[in-house]
Amino acid sequence: MKRRLKKKVVACFISSLIIIMTIVISIIMIVNYNKKIHSIPYKLEKLGYQKEEITFFEDFTKGENAKMNMDDILNHPYHKDLSSFLKEKYFIYENLERYLAYKDKNNKLTNSEVVSLVNVNRDKEYYENVKKVDTSKENLMLVNKYYALDKDFAFDDLVTVSIQHCYGNQKIRKEVYEKFKQMFNDAKKEGLTIIINSSYRTYDYQENLWNNYARTHDEAWADSYAARAGHSEHQTGLTIDVTTYGVKEQEDFETTDEFTWMRENAHKYGFILRYPKNQENITGYSCESWHYRYVGVDVATKIYEEGITFDEYYAFYFNQ
Ligand code: DAL
Ligand code: ZN
Repeated sequence: MKRRLKKKVVACFISSLIIIMTIVISIIMIVNYNKKIHSIPYKLEKLGYQKEEITFFEDFTKGENAKMNMDDILNHPYHKDLSSFLKEKYFIYENLERYLAYKDKNNKLTNSEVVSLVNVNRDKEYYENVKKVDTSKENLMLVNKYYALDKDFAFDDLVTVSIQHCYGNQKIRKEVYEKFKQMFNDAKKEGLTIIINSSYRTYDYQENLWNNYARTHDEAWADSYAARAGHSEHQTGLTIDVTTYGVKEQEDFETTDEFTWMRENAHKYGFILRYPKNQENITGYSCESWHYRYVGVDVATKIYEEGITFDEYYAFYFNQ
């Protein structure tokens, strides 16, 4: 009788143990499953990302200045190019949707090209929704096909350039002239002569110039070579077109020792080659070996070292 009771108690104990263990295991499984479905890798995987992308996103968002946080990534629909866009040096988060849309339309472009082009607004038409130039940026104001100056804008510290430094009657901002003179003198020491042959231009002057080009060639040609009125950097007094002895056509400046010297040294005096070769799509103009823009030594040096245009510099560094 006693033995039977004992057996029953043992059986009861074992079945209770089994039940308890089943419950515990189930709870552990539920907790683990819950943990898993709430984990970031699981959510990323569910969105469609691969292992390497998930690892990249996790590392990337831990970075101090990550340009996108994990919530942004999780809330964004899957895109096959998202991780590679995030790796781009000049990525701007506010432009993300525009990068993705532009890439979808222009899938032969690299992501790097897409970032550069969208940053400088090339996903929008020239001269449409033109914005006012932010003249408070002074030497760093951006004037291009998307940003225009008011008709009557002019700095009040324009000075007349001495005849020893220019052809014709030229004016530029005082600070620009001081730096130009240093550059002129240092180039002279190497037997080179840099002469200014165009500088500050009024709105009306630029209007006539563009109209003449449009009449003698056509509008598309005029747009690739000259800015429309209000859109020219020449109106800022921060820009010089240069030449040297013996140069008949502006384009020939590129073949001179003065050009070679300026290409390597202009930034030390605060000038940049504003419309470089192979950047037509970014700047909106054909290469102009003669057109230099003053931005100050620090910015000119950064632009020179990074090998970018002023349009790209402005978009990225004033967006930080
Ligand atoms: N040639 C440059 C683009 C200008 O007209 O300002
Ligand atoms: Zn020019």
